[in-house]
Amino acid sequence: MSLRLSRVIGHRGVAATAPENTLTGFRLAAEAGFSWVEFDVMLSADEVPMLHHDEKLGRTNDGRGRLCEQDAEALKRLDAGAWFAPDFAGERIPSFADGIACCRALGLAMNVEIKPAKGHAIRTAEVVAETLNTLCPDLTDLIVVSSFERECLEVAKEKAPDFHRGYLCESLADGWRQAAEDLGCVSVHPNHRPLTEAAVAAIREAGFKTLTYTVNDPLRAATLIAWGVDAVITD
Ligand code: G3P
Ligand code: MG
Repeated sequence: MSLRLSRVIGHRGVAATAPENTLTGFRLAAEAGFSWVEFDVMLSADEVPMLHHDEKLGRTNDGRGRLCEQDAEALKRLDAGAWFAPDFAGERIPSFADGIACCRALGLAMNVEIKPAKGHAIRTAEVVAETLNTLCPDLTDLIVVSSFERECLEVAKEKAPDFHRGYLCESLADGWRQAAEDLGCVSVHPNHRPLTEAAVAAIREAGFKTLTYTVNDPLRAATLIAWGVDAVITD
């Protein structure tokens, strides 16, 4: 199956409008017209995949310490909305399964970024792969799994081969093309800041789609799309 992309992908749900990596964020992304969202997946201490960006709790919730050192039950009691605005108080950190169910119900396609805590890359990717195989076998053309960690993409390739993979990076470092090929990626996801028209052309010539993050300026988005970028990931 081929990836059914849209030009615009909501970053961490729709991070400018709603608390990031939350179900309300997904609902508001869908209401705003997004058909794709990106979100981050990290493992709790009891190996439940949770939607969370930072290794440490506290910026986007009222927790403390590292997410990977607390069980899902405790994480689910945290408030993940009040930090953003009082109206969002009571929002919870969703599990990956909650996120999938919500996106499925809303008709949202998913860029699943595997975001392991230090030392947990392989196990995080294994659990993400198992979860996708179990919950999403019918959604393979509407999901792309990405990660900055090469190990995570290796595990995804081995354990969830039916799902598309994206090579996530800051910029195109030496060897990017070989690495993306070896990992069987369909797309390359560079930061838009150092991205050039020549780099976008090189990605396309190598046979990959380009998804670039995090593009919040409409003029910059138009330039990137004119260069041939396939999708911009935006707050
Ligand atoms: O997947 C694109 C983007 O989310 C990568 O950076 O730090 O926002 O997860 P970050
Ligand atoms: Mg991300």
